[in-house]
Amino acid sequence: MEKLNVGIVGLGRLGKIHAHHLAESIGAFHLYAACSVVDSELDYAKENLGVEKVYRDYGEMLADDAIDAVVLVTPSHQHCGQIIQGLEAGKHVFCEKPLGLELEEMLRVEKAVEEHPNQVFMLGFMRRYDESYMYAKELVDQGEIGDVTLIRCYGIDPNSGMESFIEFCKNSSSGGLFLDMAIHDIDLIRWFTGQEISKVWALGNNIAYPILDELGDTETGAALCKLENNAIGIMVAGRNAAHGYHVETEIIGTKGSLRIANLQEKNLVTILNEHGAVRPMSQNFPERFKGAFLNELTQFAKYINNNQKAPISVKDGIRATQAAIACGESMDSGELVSIEY
Ligand code: NAI
Repeated sequence: MEKLNVGIVGLGRLGKIHAHHLAESIGAFHLYAACSVVDSELDYAKENLGVEKVYRDYGEMLADDAIDAVVLVTPSHQHCGQIIQGLEAGKHVFCEKPLGLELEEMLRVEKAVEEHPNQVFMLGFMRRYDESYMYAKELVDQGEIGDVTLIRCYGIDPNSGMESFIEFCKNSSSGGLFLDMAIHDIDLIRWFTGQEISKVWALGNNIAYPILDELGDTETGAALCKLENNAIGIMVAGRNAAHGYHVETEIIGTKGSLRIANLQEKNLVTILNEHGAVRPMSQNFPERFKGAFLNELTQFAKYINNNQKAPISVKDGIRATQAAIACGESMDSGELVSIEY
């Protein structure tokens, strides 16, 4: 089968990772072009990614008829506009999470996706493509643990990334702790239960990094969620894990429970030394979710080639963002917030 020509848009922290996967590891794609507003990133693409074209302007890239699909890894506030532009230019579109930061812009994306039914749109909730989460989902769907009554999720970034995060915060907003980070857990809660979140109560603090108060962001947060069927979601999000990148999920059901990554083991090696039995931990999201990132883009190509809709829909993006916004509102007001759909 002929390869699909893909253009990567954004070559920052995650964009470079996706770009290398597209260039080197996903046979169905040919990484044809790269777009960034930073010249050094375009030089990087020419030197390290073997792209045929580089663009400083997304609109110009979209005018290139050789491109079949675009992968958007740009700052979150640009996602909605760029998705719509990509669809209107006839491209298949993969976009990183979150779908958007505001409801109105996401509803415009929903309309654009409906108006282009022959193009694939996919959102990057990559945990759904992680082997362990996929296995857990199969077990839950087969009824292994009965009906889900509670999901507990931890998503805590390593504190080794804090300095660069503070620099990032000085220049732009991450969308806040819930929209930027806990959104993956919101997606998992919705995915595993098939239920919408109807009420949230959230708290947050900056005890470890008071500077984040000045920058309008949050270091540690927690949210309690009521689902439509009365199941419960508990989310802990943070940026201060001393031991590495900590993503952990527990799903409790009427007949049993499942735990996914209750320790963030890097691999199966245990080091026995003067500190005892030491299990090295995953240190960052590219390491922990390498397989998931590869798998999601491999599947994106498959959906395009098979004329299939991607299972992660615009609706998933909208609902997750709505719940994340409600968590932020609850944290700010101290009140229980109901979500109207
Ligand atoms: P970053 O700030 O490191 O990179 C952003 C990139 O976008 C830069 O290369 C910049 O030059 C480029 N850019 C900005 N405006 C542009 C424009 N108008 N046209 C073309 N390029 C433009 O950001 P990072 O951390 O790579 O995040 C990017 C997106 O990926 C965010 O939406 C973030 O939420 C998401 N993300 C998802 C993760 C996941 O676990 N799935 C992990 C990290 C980020």
